[in-house]
Amino acid sequence: MTIDKSEKKVLMATGSILALFIFSILYARGKFKSDLPECVPYDKAYEVPVIKKVDDRTYQVFAVARMWVFEPSQIYIPVGSEVDFYLTSKDVVHGFNIAEKNINMMAIYGNINKTTVKFDKPGVYKITCHEYCGTGHQNMQAEVIVNYPKNNK
Ligand code: CUA
Repeated sequence: MTIDKSEKKVLMATGSILALFIFSILYARGKFKSDLPECVPYDKAYEVPVIKKVDDRTYQVFAVARMWVFEPSQIYIPVGSEVDFYLTSKDVVHGFNIAEKNINMMAIYGNINKTTVKFDKPGVYKITCHEYCGTGHQNMQAEVIVNYPKNNK
């Protein structure tokens, strides 16, 4: 089988563009790794909402979404804390958005999504559901309260 010269050129060009494309994806993944939600093996334990203090600046939150609340609904942490969110849903698909932190996750029944967020500044960070989930959708929210107005440390 013979390949025409110009055809060869096209194949080469396509190949290098594809290689560049794959390289950029891998590069971006490495560089922005912490921004990508990870999938965690499912475990029933994640269905129980809890805030765990790992140390002074590290917390784990098992966030449970259901129609139409997030639990826990208020998360008090000191400034500078790093929070691992483990997210699941008890019913339909819900969104989990912290606009100020550029966090977008999906809460899915039977699934755990994880992301880590660092809260460097005091304030109240709204967690909202950004996936339509029924009549109570627009009221579905929670908040992360960083050093304000009180602290349960
Ligand atoms: Cu939950 Cu929209």
